Amino acid sequence: MRFVALDKQHGHIEAELTEAFARLLKTSAYTLGTEVEQFEAEFAEYCESAECVGVSSGTSALSLVLRAAGIGPGDEVIVPAHTFIASALGAVHAGATPVLCEVDEATGLIDPEAARAAITPRTAAIVAVHLYGQMCDMDPLTEIAKAHSLFVLEDAAQAHGALYKGRRAGSLGDAAAFSFYPSKNLGALGDGGAVCTADETLAARLRRLRNLGQRVKGEHVELGYNERLDGLQAALLRVKLPHLDAWNEARRVRAERYQELLSDEITLLTERPDGRCVYHLMPARFADRDAVATALRAQGIETGIHYAPAMDAHPALEGIATVTGDIRAARDWAAEELSLPMHPDLTDDEVEFVAEAVIEAVTETASAGGGRC
Ligand SMILES: Cc1ncc(COP(=O)(O)O)c(C=O)c1O
Repeated sequence: MRFVALDKQHGHIEAELTEAFARLLKTSAYTLGTEVEQFEAEFAEYCESAECVGVSSGTSALSLVLRAAGIGPGDEVIVPAHTFIASALGAVHAGATPVLCEVDEATGLIDPEAARAAITPRTAAIVAVHLYGQMCDMDPLTEIAKAHSLFVLEDAAQAHGALYKGRRAGSLGDAAAFSFYPSKNLGALGDGGAVCTADETLAARLRRLRNLGQRVKGEHVELGYNERLDGLQAALLRVKLPHLDAWNEARRVRAERYQELLSDEITLLTERPDGRCVYHLMPARFADRDAVATALRAQGIETGIHYAPAMDAHPALEGIATVTGDIRAARDWAAEELSLPMHPDLTDDEVEFVAEAVIEAVTETASAGGGRC
């Protein structure tokens, strides 16, 4: 069983996707242009944000927004020690130093107290990564950031449509970075990303930075990059956006079913009571993750690891990122996490099949000395 099934998702909307492609062939608005502008307006509205700036990927969204906010060499950016490497690359590419801090044991999300303890006179920003589709505890993070005049960047690459106290991902930080990598809750048919912000000045600078530093065509007022969102991807994203809430709800239904079938047997993600997780992934924890993955593979079930190693152990970040405090929970997540198949087209039979296989695998590995986390 496949981990994601984009062909199924696209099959439901094939005619609309084809129509969007045909429209692009007629208008030739391949880079920026009307489709990008319309998608930006629609996605900003969806995220309850004043501005949206389409860019070429989630990684470029993270680095451009930090640059646009004036964060760079000499600055420190606090990043959770358990996340995808791109959460830290934004700071690195902006010239700043990522400072890795502890996450919450139950959710894998940044621990606000660990973030507070990581603050130094050089700290300029906190990256709140809404991992697995669940939003960070934004109130304490915002309060800490306010007290120290820090920029709060939501890494919402996995959280399109997630809620925190009724508010949408992308509307709580100073800015939010989204990825439209194909398997994301809202995915393009290629790479894409966006920044949402309420700050018009920041958005204007982002629009210049993504487009070679141009204010208007031919007038290059600063050193920019070529990191634009393609018109074609914007047109396809416009087809998909109206379906996002239904797809997220379908993910939640499948997550609930996994919970019913598995929560007595294994450790699953703890949902925060004040949010609405959109289950980009379905993480589970196992003492012997590799043995469980092998047993599931033998039954034809694909799984994923999100993420290992803990961030400080990536060779690419050696000598660049620093660790602050004890990051035991981040290391535990890196050692034990295994993601089960999760997508809106997963059938009830498939969820049951996976759950049965997981229970069988856990029983086998426990009798071999593995055990529950
Ligand atoms: C948490 C997180 N941040 C950032 C990114 C980077 O996004 P992209 O792959 O579009 O560069 C991703 C996705 O891959 C992600 O999962």
